[in-house]
Amino acid sequence: MATVAELLQPVEADLEALLSDLRSLIGAGHPILQAAAEHLFSAGGKRLRPGIVLLISRALAADGELSSRHRRLAEITEMIHTASLVHDDVVDEASTRRGVDTVHSRFNHRVAVLAGDFLFAQASWHLANLDDLEVVKLLSRVIMDLADGEVRQGLFRYDTGQSFETYLEKSYCKTASLIANSARAAGVLSGLPASQLDSLYRFGRQLGLAFQVVDDILDFTGSDQQLGKPAASDLASGYLTAPALYALEERPALAGLIEREFSQEGDLEQALELVRGSAAIQRSRTLAEGFANEAREALTWLPASESRSALLALPEFVLSRLY
Ligand code: IPE
Ligand code: IPE
Ligand code: MG
Ligand code: MG
Repeated sequence: MATVAELLQPVEADLEALLSDLRSLIGAGHPILQAAAEHLFSAGGKRLRPGIVLLISRALAADGELSSRHRRLAEITEMIHTASLVHDDVVDEASTRRGVDTVHSRFNHRVAVLAGDFLFAQASWHLANLDDLEVVKLLSRVIMDLADGEVRQGLFRYDTGQSFETYLEKSYCKTASLIANSARAAGVLSGLPASQLDSLYRFGRQLGLAFQVVDDILDFTGSDQQLGKPAASDLASGYLTAPALYALEERPALAGLIEREFSQEGDLEQALELVRGSAAIQRSRTLAEGFANEAREALTWLPASESRSALLALPEFVLSRLY
């Protein structure tokens, strides 16, 4: 199976340029906030979201070339994503991200909150400067969804009565909305008709849901080192993701452990074992596969190009992170 770098190969040079552009874009602020933002950008994430925007943009261009507005959209997308991670790590009290200390561990909470705000603000400014009201609406909606998703997740901590629907809505807000709306925005900048914009949105939405379910499985099955962030942390924080929700249907004993918030010695270990030993992981995989297939089907209409091939291989890549 291809690595993410191989898959994003058609836009590799664009992504390199993106990183240096991001650095100069955020360069205008306060030195400490700049250092905090730089800290995570340098650590190097997968750059999946800007990669998707760039691949879509290239796949839609008759000459395969990128406009400066498409490039800027990709940068904005990664800025919003990184800002959400900085804040998410504060909320989750996570110590590592992208294999390095989180911003709040490296600096402090005040700096992390401000650095996240700073990145969101920079993203909004550059977004407005694209001078396309439809794109502004799509991406500002994402920023609303991100906050909504974090709040929702917090409200349902340790709540064993929550529905699967609640979990999927939260996942849409925290993860799928950015991928879906940035994919659609790339199409808007390319002047596509509504039906094709809808399928770009659907691709991003289903891929984002698959991605989040896979991330939630990896939290149970991966190691800190493999993930570059603390593993086995969702359940410990009271976040009930697909594996936990499925396991609750099978293992009634799990509910008691969660409801007493793992307050007794060995509770958490026992709960993790209950989830890992049930069919929940396999059922979650099946769920992710369904979303991934739907994502792929949404884009088959794209004209043949190496960018199209990469986009169609992305859903499979998301699933392959499990193996
Ligand atoms: C992390 O996203 C947040 C989730 C949606 C699970 P990524 O796994 O894409 O993070 P980076 O950008 O590669 O670090
Ligand atoms: C992912 O949430 C989405 C966002 C960060 C907005 P998670 O809490 O699952 O992400 P990780 O596991 O910390 O990367
Ligand atoms: Mg988190
Ligand atoms: Mg996670």
